[in-house]
Formats: sequence, structure tokens, C-alpha cells
Amino acid sequence: MAEISIQELTVENIYKCIDLELAEDQVDRIAPNVYSIAESKVHSNFTPYAIHLDDNVIGFVMTECDPNEIEERKYWIPRFMIDVSYQRKGYGKEAMHQVIDMLKKNDDCHYIGLSTEPDNDPALQFYESLGFINTGELLEEREAILVLNVRK
Ligand SMILES: CC(C)(COP(=O)(O)OP(=O)(O)OC[C@H]1O[C@@H](n2cnc3c(N)ncnc32)[C@H](O)[C@@H]1OP(=O)(O)O)[C@@H](O)C(=O)NCCC(=O)NCCS
Repeated sequence: MAEISIQELTVENIYKCIDLELAEDQVDRIAPNVYSIAESKVHSNFTPYAIHLDDNVIGFVMTECDPNEIEERKYWIPRFMIDVSYQRKGYGKEAMHQVIDMLKKNDDCHYIGLSTEPDNDPALQFYESLGFINTGELLEEREAILVLNVRK
């Protein structure tokens, strides 16, 4: 069976991450991957990863760790996307489980947070299916904040 894995960016997979595509109505929901990769070069708290399905790159995720933030904001997932031709196959869910497990390895990771536009119903359903709770708070008065409690 084909396997999902979260891989560091390399000279081999970086261009495939940049070339990943979204549906027309999804493009404006998330910054282009090339923008996120550029941001990660100057924000030391950001780490970009390729989502692989065996040897194919099918998605992109960026994590953020800010040790100076409050517990709910310390570990964050600012970007997550699956290429349109690989969506609705369960790959996003498996990849997100792996990202959560990776972040949970940090002893001080009690919560994982992220945000999305309040009208991005597919994303909200996706994150809620993984156990994230919509806090009702807005980030920069724009995006709904969702939080997953990873340690009781
Ligand atoms: C949101 C996204 C990451 C989901 O990835 P995916 O691989 O298609 O998700 P999965 O196949 O693992 O779906 C898992 C569950 O999420 C929910 N879900 C996923 N896509 C959905 C959609 N379009 N509509 C409604 N629910 C959806 C469902 O509950 C689904 O379970 P089901 O298929 O058994 O019904 C993908 O649609 C995407 O990249 N969207 C564009 C970028 C974006 O909006 N990112 C998030 C905001 S930053």
C-alpha cells in the first residue's frame, strides 16, 4: 500500500512543492507554497515540509514553533495543503496525523493551533474531523482559530 510521509525540503522535492496545484476556488485560501518557503528562510520558527505519497510529492505543510508564545499558540500549523488531484482520498488526514505526532514529541507541546477563513467549510470539516475545536476566536480579526489538545 502507498505510504504517506512528511519529509524535509530537499533539492529534489522543493520544486515539486512549488508546482503543487489547488482547485480554482481554493487558490486564494492559502499562500502559494513558494511564498511559504521564502518566509521560512527568514522566520526561524517556521519549518516547511513536503508531504510524500511514496516517492511522489502530493502536499505541503509548514509548522511553527514559538517558545515565547502562550501554550495554545506555541505550536502552530500555518500552512497545510494537498494537491487537488490527490484530495478526498484520506491522504490529508494521514499526513496531518503524522504532523501532530511529530509536534507531540516536544514535551512542551500541549496544544496545536491553526487558523482558516471562517467560510472555508471543507477545511473546517477536515480539521474538526481530526479533533480540532473551533475556539470562536479570530486571528487578526479574519481567520477562525482552531486548537487541538494533545496532552491532558
Ligand atoms: C483541506 C484539505 C487539506 C483536505 O485534504 P484531503 O486530503 O482532501 O482530506 P481527506 O481526504 O484526508 O479528508 C478527511 C476528512 O476531511 C473532511 N473533508 C476533506 N475535504 C472536504 C471537502 N472538500 N468538503 C467537506 N469535507 C471535507 C471530510 O470529513 C473527510 O473525511 P471523508 O472523506 O471520510 O468524508 C484540502 O482540501 C486542501 O488542500 N484544501 C486547500 C487548502 C486549504 O484550504 N488548506 C487549509 C486552510 S490553510
